[in-house]
Amino acid sequence: MIKISPSVLASDFSALGAESKRMEESGADYLHLDVMDGRFVPNITFGAPVIKSIRNKTGLVFDVHLMIDKPLEYIEDFKKAGADIITFHVESSSPAEQTVDKILECGCKAGVSIKPKTAAEEVLPLLDKLSMVLVMTVEPGFGGQSFMPETMEKVKTLRREIERRGLDVDIQVDGGINEKTVETAAAAGANVFVAGSAVFGAENAAKAISDLRSLAEKAYSAT
Ligand code: DX5
Ligand code: ZN
Repeated sequence: MIKISPSVLASDFSALGAESKRMEESGADYLHLDVMDGRFVPNITFGAPVIKSIRNKTGLVFDVHLMIDKPLEYIEDFKKAGADIITFHVESSSPAEQTVDKILECGCKAGVSIKPKTAAEEVLPLLDKLSMVLVMTVEPGFGGQSFMPETMEKVKTLRREIERRGLDVDIQVDGGINEKTVETAAAAGANVFVAGSAVFGAENAAKAISDLRSLAEKAYSAT
């Protein structure tokens, strides 16, 4: 099923609670929360306390994207803060399988992400335990970058493998997703779409979300 996950990175941080509520009212499925530590990526955003502070402002699924060096050490904090899906990077320094197990033990859904230069094969050993694979379509660290079409081969490979194994794993794409790129990603087999600038930068967020959704639905169902 197609899901739209607006990234609060492009929102007004001084009104994060209201912005989250606004996304729910605008028809979003998830709220994408980009956690950056200034080590794994050259930028710092926010951590578990900030996520906790908005947990009671919206009923949206909290889709937490950890761009941090040692995710394993912080899984419980994010669970307690209200995360529903926790995605970490396979390139981080935590042992991947142990980190997935920890997320599942906490009762969250587990996602694993790969940067543009990381091969799809890196996540295959973990696939059976995952709810989601996040294929980064830009180098992680900043919003507002351009979509990298060369990452689509990995989306295709992963979708093929998920089908071959008969699994129910979502493929998320993140970075430069807008009405010009969403169809390409959906046609390759992605079904969860993160959008920062395209939603928060739009005059009408509800329209931006529904436009992205209908473009994605059409392209995905044609595959
Ligand atoms: C980038 C983040 C993205 C970012 C996307 O490192 O993971 O979630 O907010 O922003 P846009 O949609 O503006 O490219
Ligand atoms: Zn993200």
